[in-house]
Amino acid sequence: MYNSKIIGLGKYVPDNVVTNEDLSKMMDTNDEWITERTGIKERRWVKEGSGDTTATMGVKAAKQAIERAGIDKDDIDFIIFATLSPDMYFPGPGVQVQHALGIKTVGALDVRNQCSGFIYALSVADNFIKTGMYKNILVIGSELHSHGLDKTTRGRGVTVIFGDGAGAAILTREEDTTKGVLSTHLHSQGEHAEELVLVAPGMGKRWVNDIIADNDPNDESYFPHMNGQFVFKNAVVRFSEVIMEGLVKNKMGKDAIDMLIPHQANLRIAQFIQKKFELTDDQVYNNIMRYGNTTAASIPIALTEAWEEGKIKEGDNVVLAAFGSGFTWGSAIIKW
Ligand code: ACO
Repeated sequence: MYNSKIIGLGKYVPDNVVTNEDLSKMMDTNDEWITERTGIKERRWVKEGSGDTTATMGVKAAKQAIERAGIDKDDIDFIIFATLSPDMYFPGPGVQVQHALGIKTVGALDVRNQCSGFIYALSVADNFIKTGMYKNILVIGSELHSHGLDKTTRGRGVTVIFGDGAGAAILTREEDTTKGVLSTHLHSQGEHAEELVLVAPGMGKRWVNDIIADNDPNDESYFPHMNGQFVFKNAVVRFSEVIMEGLVKNKMGKDAIDMLIPHQANLRIAQFIQKKFELTDDQVYNNIMRYGNTTAASIPIALTEAWEEGKIKEGDNVVLAAFGSGFTWGSAIIKW
């Protein structure tokens, strides 16, 4: 039995900065509303013609993670790609990464767990490594939301929140089982699936042929929908529960947390959790102000930046936690 540990982190965000002021020119919104409710000041949205896609952004983040890990791309045994915004309905972006990196024909798995996607992907990678099946796994979270958002006032409740970007991690085998990923915890509650949902191009609700026949540009099934307050209320409860679950599993108290990287959904959610776990500002990493909610990419981007800024040191207990559409939620407890 082994543990897995993160030996390389990388991120990529598009250059194009979209401020709250920019959004107020597209729809009836304003900086004050967005800042007060979410903490977001700006986000990155892929610029038309830049060539950035969910897969290519994932590749850029992956290249940085591979280089920092000090391994060769051909040392990678498996790829896991978490996203809710794949470039194509199928196949998923995992195989695009395998091709773009020129990696030998290793397996590539796509994870569809929205904001919890990176935690789910990390958990799968961790367990493949723990059982000895693979040694080095590339885990990516990448999202291109901006192509699929309703940029009129009708969509303002959702559109102002989301940003584009990618993060990646290389996990490798760790012989010392007191180090690395100590445990992961995953949950779902499908009864609330429609509280935060993008219906099309799913096959369940309507026949694709009907949608094409309608040719209705106002068909809202192509845009994400969110019952914001209901999601918010569930998020604060589930974040707390799943962090506590991880601490209890590892016989740790609140005071054992050195760094909490919450999924960047809303600054107010992160502040609630910070208070609940009695953490200082230095013990919680937030970058939602600059990137908005990048769903599956938010944790690996934040983790990469916290590490780049020297906020994570060897021996630290790092807690990752996420909640999102599904509902799905999860946590990971890592001894760095
Ligand atoms: N600008 C100005 N006004 C707006 C905007 C906007 N961008 N959006 C909504 N409003 C208006 C609404 O129309 C409403 O007006 P009304 O009272 O006249 O009807 C009013 O503001 C309040 O709207 P609410 O939706 O109730 O606002 P709320 O305080 O709940 O904040 C928010 C919305 C920020 C989305 C919050 O509910 C939230 O953060 N929820 C959790 C999000 C989350 O955690 N998501 C999970 C991850 S995402 C994933 O998994 C894909």
